[in-house]
Amino acid sequence: METTLLDDYQKEIRVRIGGKEFMVPENNTLLRILQHLSCEISYSRFCWNGDCHNCIFAYRAGALEKKALACRVKVAEGMEITHLPDGIQFN
Ligand code: FES
Repeated sequence: METTLLDDYQKEIRVRIGGKEFMVPENNTLLRILQHLSCEISYSRFCWNGDCHNCIFAYRAGALEKKALACRVKVAEGMEITHLPDGIQFN
């Protein structure tokens, strides 16, 4: 499946964001997924290419909590996002 917003994907995968479960397109970065989910994203705050580091988010990896860039890391089945990048809110 293809849209102008998202990279190509074949299926949706299950992720948890802030304790809520969502089915989202695989093969896309978290920042694109948040845009797809109609989050309010300040375009002046995010470079979308790995330079600004304003998109740091936290996710659970086993017993550990890791941090990564939402514009670089693709969502994965079962991913549990515990902290969204500052400046991004669900509508
Ligand atoms: S949006 Fe700038 S580093 Fe991710």
